[in-house]
Amino acid sequence: MRIAVHSRRSWFSEFLWDIFPAPERCTDTGFAFSMTHEITTPDQLNDEGPVELSLRPQRLAEFIGQTKVKEALRVYIDAALARREPLDHTLFFGPPGLGKTTLAELIARELGVNIRNTSGPALEKPGDLVGTLTNLREGDILFIDEIHRLRPVIEEFLYPAMEDYRIDIRLSEGPKAQTITMPIERFTLVGATTRLGMLTPPMRARFGIVMRLNFYPTEELEHIVHRTAEVLAVDVDPAGASEIARRSRGTPRIANRLVRRVRDFAQVRANGRITRQIADEALQLLDVDHFGLDDMDARILRAIIEKFEGGPVGVASIAVAVSEDTGTIEEVYEPFLVQNGFLQRTPRGRVATPLAYRHFGYELPSAHAEQPGLFST
Ligand SMILES: Nc1ncnc2c1ncn2[C@@H]1O[C@H](COP(=O)(O)OP(=O)(O)O)[C@@H](O)[C@H]1O
Ligand SMILES: [Mg+2]
Repeated sequence: MRIAVHSRRSWFSEFLWDIFPAPERCTDTGFAFSMTHEITTPDQLNDEGPVELSLRPQRLAEFIGQTKVKEALRVYIDAALARREPLDHTLFFGPPGLGKTTLAELIARELGVNIRNTSGPALEKPGDLVGTLTNLREGDILFIDEIHRLRPVIEEFLYPAMEDYRIDIRLSEGPKAQTITMPIERFTLVGATTRLGMLTPPMRARFGIVMRLNFYPTEELEHIVHRTAEVLAVDVDPAGASEIARRSRGTPRIANRLVRRVRDFAQVRANGRITRQIADEALQLLDVDHFGLDDMDARILRAIIEKFEGGPVGVASIAVAVSEDTGTIEEVYEPFLVQNGFLQRTPRGRVATPLAYRHFGYELPSAHAEQPGLFST
């Protein structure tokens, strides 16, 4: 199954070739870039569906971290159960890979109800939802991922469903079209979005519970790494777990992915046991740096420093400079860089912090020294 593309391949590339599945391979210079970009993306990769399913916590108590969210949910769920009423419509928002889908499924399990999954981009016309909505039983959950991407017609169609538990079905097209109104069971809509700001205000107003998921601190990620290792029957020592956790961008999905990649390395090089040294070697090989910064983070920060004199610069200009989509920069990269002190969002634009200069070995421009107030806002 190996295909010889490079004529001179070191053990190093042989090794990479062996452990990375086909979609991540590409030839020549694209190889390193596409690989490093994918290893730390918080989005789900094509082949990760089944393994993620096996790693999903089965009870709310098993869900690690996000204590405030978990405690509040526990209260809402218990109250709904006690009153025998459906849970209020619930919205989760936060960067990808932090557990929004997992929580939606946990809520259904804790309530003992069915959950139907769909997503904003998958719904083209109201008709796509009629069957699902009319089949829901009292208290069931309709989960809509990427809810900020719903078409306006679908939103309009959902409002009476969410508020009055009825749907209006148009029987024909045109201004004189007949509509019939159908009652549906009282259900709970659970929405997830990475971009709260893009949700329309009327939609947002219809959620009784709105919860934000934050990046996980290292200690919680360590816990997740240990749990994942246990599920996958991988041997990891505490120092190894902490090394992986530190480099996971605060994101469980990435932590789980790094566990699997480091496991491969450990099996080939070290009897399968993940120690700090093995984790470090494997992650270096994968170009995951000590803060978990990846290639795109680096390109963003370097662009701000090199091309825009450290900023302030608008996100659209950064996007052009690094050939990435503005939305992705705002929702995936920036939150992490801001949280970790590499980047500041100011009213005039994005600014690289002194930490960013130091991390990439740039000298701080004198302007920063003259304006100590620049970083105090
Ligand atoms: N708090 C957590 N504890 C354990 N595993 C988690 C946690 N949060 C997320 N995961 C795991 O990370 C992966 C991605 O989570 P997911 O719910 O799909 O994220 P999102 O929907 O926010 O993108 C899943 O495999 C899930 O099991
Ligand atoms: Mg999800």
